Amino acid sequence: MCGIVGYAGKNRAVPYLLEGLEKLEYRGYDSAGIAVNEEDVIRIMKTKGRIGNLESLIASQRHSDATVGIGHTRWATHGKPNDVNAHPHISQSGLFCVVHNGIIENYLQLKAQLIADGYRFVSETDTEVIAHLLEQNYDGNFVSTVRKTTAMLEGAFALCILCRDFPDSIVCTRWASPLVMGKSDDGVFLASDVTAILKHTSDIYYLDGHETALIADGGITFFDKAGNATQKAPKHIDWNVSAAQKGGYEHFMLKEIMEQPKAIQDTVSPRIDSDGRIVFEDFHLTDEEIENLNRIVIVACGSAFHAGEVGRYVLEKMTRIPVETAIASEFRYRDPVLDAHSLVIVISQSGETADTLAGLRLANEKGAKTVCIVNVVSSSIANEGGSVVYTHAGPEIAVATTKAYSAQVSVLYLLAGYIADRKGLLPEEERRTYVDALRKLPELIAQTLEDCGEQMQKLSEMFIPLEHAYFIGRNLDYACAMEASLKMKEISYIHSEAYAAGELKHGTISLIEKGTLVVALAACSDVFGKTMSNIKEVKARGARVLCVSTSENASAMSEVDFKVIIPDTLPLFAVTLEVLPMQLLGYYTAKNRGCDIDKPRNLAKSVTVE
Ligand code: AGP
Repeated sequence: MCGIVGYAGKNRAVPYLLEGLEKLEYRGYDSAGIAVNEEDVIRIMKTKGRIGNLESLIASQRHSDATVGIGHTRWATHGKPNDVNAHPHISQSGLFCVVHNGIIENYLQLKAQLIADGYRFVSETDTEVIAHLLEQNYDGNFVSTVRKTTAMLEGAFALCILCRDFPDSIVCTRWASPLVMGKSDDGVFLASDVTAILKHTSDIYYLDGHETALIADGGITFFDKAGNATQKAPKHIDWNVSAAQKGGYEHFMLKEIMEQPKAIQDTVSPRIDSDGRIVFEDFHLTDEEIENLNRIVIVACGSAFHAGEVGRYVLEKMTRIPVETAIASEFRYRDPVLDAHSLVIVISQSGETADTLAGLRLANEKGAKTVCIVNVVSSSIANEGGSVVYTHAGPEIAVATTKAYSAQVSVLYLLAGYIADRKGLLPEEERRTYVDALRKLPELIAQTLEDCGEQMQKLSEMFIPLEHAYFIGRNLDYACAMEASLKMKEISYIHSEAYAAGELKHGTISLIEKGTLVVALAACSDVFGKTMSNIKEVKARGARVLCVSTSENASAMSEVDFKVIIPDTLPLFAVTLEVLPMQLLGYYTAKNRGCDIDKPRNLAKSVTVE
């Protein structure tokens, strides 16, 4: 997720661009830049780092009186955060300049063709492809050139574009990434979301997918998907800036829970090619090295560790390689036995967690192969991993992770499928079924959130007075129980425990008494019956049971007090949906208890110290 802005009007563009970027910094902040149309040249000023760095850079440069410009604040997905990869990007002759929010999934093919056609690239980004394509497609008409170019793009984009031949104009367009605009007496304002322009107008125009807008002479001309001029009515927005940054949600955590379909879509879809094969852009194990792997160790902390627990079951099931998980703070001090036939998978949203980074360094020292699953491009862990598979969850602001956790889990499914396929363990039919299940995840996640949102808000009321909560499950359900328990305790401050359901009778069941609330996760069909037996055990001691399972098991849940049903999917994938009602349960419980949801007490978003 990045932030883009644009301005065309009668005043200087630079102050409006910087003001807008400051409001959008929550969308991405590893580099930033602006471009202004100055007579017969498009002038770019951009730098690594936050908006403050850009403001200092601009202050040190020649003053600009340009009244038309675009700007961008970046969350890197392709290419390290640095001055060269920062947006805006300009075409070879300087004719077109573009800022982009989204991911172009076919950029490698387009880039290869452009290089063959003689274009020289300076950055590692997918966006630079768009700048050169615009130049290659230029037919003298600004709007038709943009439309011809975007028709060649696959993936998500919101674009603001300058053309040297049209110094008073901006053309913008979008597909699957947001773009809004508004007018005031000062001119026309464009942005990724209303946050950046609410100060100037509350009457907002929303571009629909593949629509285009030409901003010129203080006005906006809209073109529909077919390229015909069309009329649009503005919508009046009564949010304040803070509400706008949260997309209208009350907290970043709820916004990020709801962003999970897109986070998984952006993480998974670029890694499934047109033949339905799983592909990675930065994975350096040969088939022989994969064949010779004799163990996999997953190293992480907190929720990333819980994602690793899911990965443990899935990887071992699919690859038939022994898999273990290790809490990084334990792993780094236990002198583990590792060698060139060991694969260490390191998971970290921030890419800066000290214990996890230490675990990676230890694995590297011992000669193990390493793969890092990271959300922040070019973070410390990403830079030191042998291979890197980025999650494309976008910036995660809430301390309690949700979309990044789910994106980490989706990468582990990708890795399991990829390794199994490379080892010849995935017959064509099975591979197709597995990949289809992966492709369907975003829509099933959206459906699950839609189906259980209100129910979890209601069920959370039972948790308000609790001091203790218990989460039980078996196999993948147990992995989910760990994350469910952490979500509950870290934001609602209710003490909770995750327990292997089969372990209850070995001690913890002594804590169960009349009225105790137990959450049983039972989406794993192959251990569903066993978990139902454990539910009977706690019910017999007076517990109330909230159980999550799939619709195919609904009729067999007679023992349960509160049923939460998630859509059917391949049994191996049910856990990816099962966690969603648990995220919402933790969120609404914390909300009911008046806790600081986005910034829970004592916690930091990235633990960069031991
Ligand atoms: C989970 O909600 C917490 N934010 C925390 O457990 C987090 O997952 C852990 O600190 C690991 O952080 P990382 O993914 O950035 O390494």
